[in-house]
Amino acid sequence: MKAIRTGAAPSTLDALELVDIDEPQAPGPGEITVALKASSLNYHDYAVVTGMIPAEQGRIPMSDGAGEVTAVGEGVSEFAVGDAVVSTFFPDWLDGDPPTSAFRRVPGDGIDGYAREAVTAPASWFTHAPAGYSHAEAATLTCAGLTAWRALFVDYALKPGDTVLVQGTGGVSIFALQFAKAAGARAIATSSSDEKLERVRALGADHTINYKEVEAWGPKALELTGGRGVDCVVEVGGPGTLDQSMLAARVGGHIALIGVLTGVAGPVQTALLFSKNLTVQGLTVGSRAMQQAMIAAIEANGTKPVVSDSFALADLADAFRHQEANRHFGKIAVEI
Ligand SMILES: NC(=O)c1ccc[n+]([C@@H]2O[C@H](COP(=O)([O-])OP(=O)(O)OC[C@H]3O[C@@H](n4cnc5c(N)ncnc54)[C@H](OP(=O)(O)O)[C@@H]3O)[C@@H](O)[C@H]2O)c1
Repeated sequence: MKAIRTGAAPSTLDALELVDIDEPQAPGPGEITVALKASSLNYHDYAVVTGMIPAEQGRIPMSDGAGEVTAVGEGVSEFAVGDAVVSTFFPDWLDGDPPTSAFRRVPGDGIDGYAREAVTAPASWFTHAPAGYSHAEAATLTCAGLTAWRALFVDYALKPGDTVLVQGTGGVSIFALQFAKAAGARAIATSSSDEKLERVRALGADHTINYKEVEAWGPKALELTGGRGVDCVVEVGGPGTLDQSMLAARVGGHIALIGVLTGVAGPVQTALLFSKNLTVQGLTVGSRAMQQAMIAAIEANGTKPVVSDSFALADLADAFRHQEANRHFGKIAVEI
């Protein structure tokens, strides 16, 4: 069967290779075999395949995988042959607080991921996909969907009438916008592109700001809330955007610190942080139980992910070039 593997470390897009690998073994006790039908691109995967996150040579990339169960091992009662399933981001974090080892084995990074046609793995590495979702839609949930979900509903208790600010129009931010609107919140969205801002307004964004044109978008967001401030910021930029996020936030507001789009370290205005009584909560995706809760909510309210582009597995490098050029809106799917 086919798979994509990274080249010599540090990985580059040009070195990604379509290779033949052995079919997976029959499932043992507690395992399932999944015919993988789709994956989706995350910035995390981009960081792996471009060498920003060190991965060993020959790693099969991609944290997200969705497909159909083709065999179940002894003792598996949660899944049956034919079920549509989606992978979880942390195989070692099922529920509750993350164990110390939770973040070591991320598929596509610490262990082989889902840029391949099939896999045999413990049943607990997957959940059921939402009813009515295509495999490509389901594959958007593992990383981007769950990160947005946790930011708004696990680490913060979003309420109808709250205001959420989302930065840019990538996978996490578009999910956060959709979840916020589904929960009856207001949303302020930023983007570098007026055309993409039009698209977020069509998705329900109440206010939009072009962050290239309005560098002080934090005070602008504050003004758009009548001076009260934003309740929850989905912070995907990192050090280059945190100051503006703090300026945008209300007194007592919450900042879900998620991303590294502007880097991984930088000065923090500690006085602004405490004088506004802000909570900054760092987070890494979420547990299997959180994924199941998100999927229950998706099924209840009919949220569908925004997938702007789709590529074949063999063209994975081109999919990443598309992402690198910021040509996507929401998610990029990979059909396997
Ligand atoms: N901690 C976690 O668990 C976790 C989980 C998922 C993602 N992340 C992180 O979250 C970030 C987003 O991930 P993703 O997969 O959603 O990325 P993505 O789909 O590749 O989206 C990137 C988008 O971010 C926007 N952007 C880039 N620079 C920006 C800036 N300075 N200010 C505001 N927006 C900016 C751009 O939108 P426009 O084209 O509209 O400007 C771009 O299209 C990444 O840093 C990723 O590593 C972290």
